[in-house]
Amino acid sequence: MTLFNRRQKQDAQVDFQNLPRHIAIIMDGNGRWAKKRNMPRSYGHGVGAETFRTIATYCKEIGLEYLTVYAFSTENWKRSQEEVGAIMGLLKKYLLEAIGQMERDRVKMEFFGDLSALTPELQELCEQTREISKRYDGCQVNICLNYGGRDEIVRAAKAYAQDCLEGKADPNHLTEERFGGYLFSKGVPDPELIIRPSGELRLSNFLPWQSAYSEFYFTDVLWPDFDKEELHRAIAAFQHRSRRFGGV
Ligand code: IPE
Ligand code: IPE
Ligand code: MG
Repeated sequence: MTLFNRRQKQDAQVDFQNLPRHIAIIMDGNGRWAKKRNMPRSYGHGVGAETFRTIATYCKEIGLEYLTVYAFSTENWKRSQEEVGAIMGLLKKYLLEAIGQMERDRVKMEFFGDLSALTPELQELCEQTREISKRYDGCQVNICLNYGGRDEIVRAAKAYAQDCLEGKADPNHLTEERFGGYLFSKGVPDPELIIRPSGELRLSNFLPWQSAYSEFYFTDVLWPDFDKEELHRAIAAFQHRSRRFGGV
């Protein structure tokens, strides 16, 4: 048996007719991946961005409806100026390339997070990407940038309170669904599956509201090494879970 055959045999069995509608990924482990190679952390972020491109394209190919990725958190500003600068530089490069290839890839892109903290140039690129995306349907990729789950909830609460003050909303009629309409994720179904590579077993402020009933898949693989096979393993694991939502 060739190595290729053996690999294929070990590949997880995914039922592509029954995919979750929405998968979310915490793209973690870029820094450690680079460190293992005696390279600067920014090198890991660059390779991680390529992994994102590969996985996003593949998710579209298999017919996934929504992919949400954690790219930069509200806490990631604590990192060195050099690292933050490198990440923002990669983001600009990625968006410029994405805009150039959108007609070909036809992936719809959205952004969750407070973009006002980004440079005007980056904000403009995000806006452009969003605008072009309106022409497409099919897979929607949500990129979480300067995103924090608690920040998202506080913002929603503020906007809701403002609507109450202006007489546009009434607290007696507030439901979970209505409140969800104030979140960045407005209109997007909750992720059924959340994947975190890099061996960390935490959410790190990612989608606390939306993950109430998500299934979690943790793997030691570092994000730059994450590939289709690893995605298959995560989906196959998800497909073997018994989701009860509080019932029996
Ligand atoms: C994730 O990789 C990317 C961002 C948080 C921007 P990390 O940079 O957190 O990589 P590790 O966790 O230090 O290995
Ligand atoms: C979460 O990873 C944020 C992103 C992947 C963008 P972190 O590396 O920032 O999380 P912690 O610090 O390990 O919790
Ligand atoms: Mg990390």
